[in-house]
Amino acid sequence: MALHVLITGGSQGAGKATALKFAAQGWDVTVAARAGDRLNQVADQIQNYGQKALAVPTDVGKAEQVNALISQSLDKFGQIDALINNAGICLTGPMANTSLEDWRQILDTNLWGCIHTIHAALPAMLSRGQGSIVNVGSFGGKMPLPQMTAYCTSKYALTGLTESLRLELSPQGIHVGIVHPGVINSDFMERAMFRGKNEDEATGRRQQMSKMLGDRWVSQPEDIAAAVWTMVQKRQAETIVGPAAIATELNRLLPQLTQWALGKATESV
Ligand SMILES: NC(=O)c1ccc[n+]([C@@H]2O[C@H](COP(=O)([O-])OP(=O)(O)OC[C@H]3O[C@@H](n4cnc5c(N)ncnc54)[C@H](OP(=O)(O)O)[C@@H]3O)[C@@H](O)[C@H]2O)c1
Repeated sequence: MALHVLITGGSQGAGKATALKFAAQGWDVTVAARAGDRLNQVADQIQNYGQKALAVPTDVGKAEQVNALISQSLDKFGQIDALINNAGICLTGPMANTSLEDWRQILDTNLWGCIHTIHAALPAMLSRGQGSIVNVGSFGGKMPLPQMTAYCTSKYALTGLTESLRLELSPQGIHVGIVHPGVINSDFMERAMFRGKNEDEATGRRQQMSKMLGDRWVSQPEDIAAAVWTMVQKRQAETIVGPAAIATELNRLLPQLTQWALGKATESV
């Protein structure tokens, strides 16, 4: 019987690349995201690898939808060998221009989304005493990023959740890891929110981000998929993907200098 992975945010970007990576390696796959049409296309691609696929339209911020996702997935496949919490959205802008509704949306998706899936999937993993939980964080969960307070809050929280949960679950046979991407040339601009004092400032931020996505050092979705795959295979604790590994290490060793340089690099935006 094939192993089975459940991936949130599996319809696009890094989540889709991860779904196809696991399918190519002979795993059956459940994919979840809000838009069902894109999920169904990914399910067709998984089946083209000869694997079983389940596509479940789900908003990970809604506990009842996540509970339904996990039970449908367990009904079809019997067990979840790996849970990949990848769904996430990005917000750039100053705190003063970030509404409470923005905060809720970021935290509901990037943090509560992971809490919901883990809460629902954990009893079945604990009863088998095996399984892997991989959260997709961000280098913004390892170092501060300018104008990204809400996003970094969600990703630092995910780092804390992962590290604490690992302490608790590894003696019970369950692997818990976190992949921290740097900037990915994915589909995230579709959902990314840009805020500013006015429309021009928000548009300037959007344009700066769009321009950055063409840079050579930016990761591709397949790089994240490869890191998630390796993390599950080797039961790794943490990986930082791409040149972001250098930035986070610099910030660890020389926080004042790194943060001063970050501020300078972004002060015109
Ligand atoms: N892109 C970057 O530069 C970057 C950098 C560091 C970390 N990351 C992290 O890497 C992960 C993947 O990012 P990506 O760039 O591949 O994103 P992406 O291309 O925008 O894809 C995001 C996926 O998440 C789904 N999603 C969004 N909100 C959701 C919700 N409430 N419920 C369920 N699914 C939801 C989307 O589908 P629907 O919209 O249909 O729901 C889509 O499938 C995220 O956790 C992100 O924070 C990204």
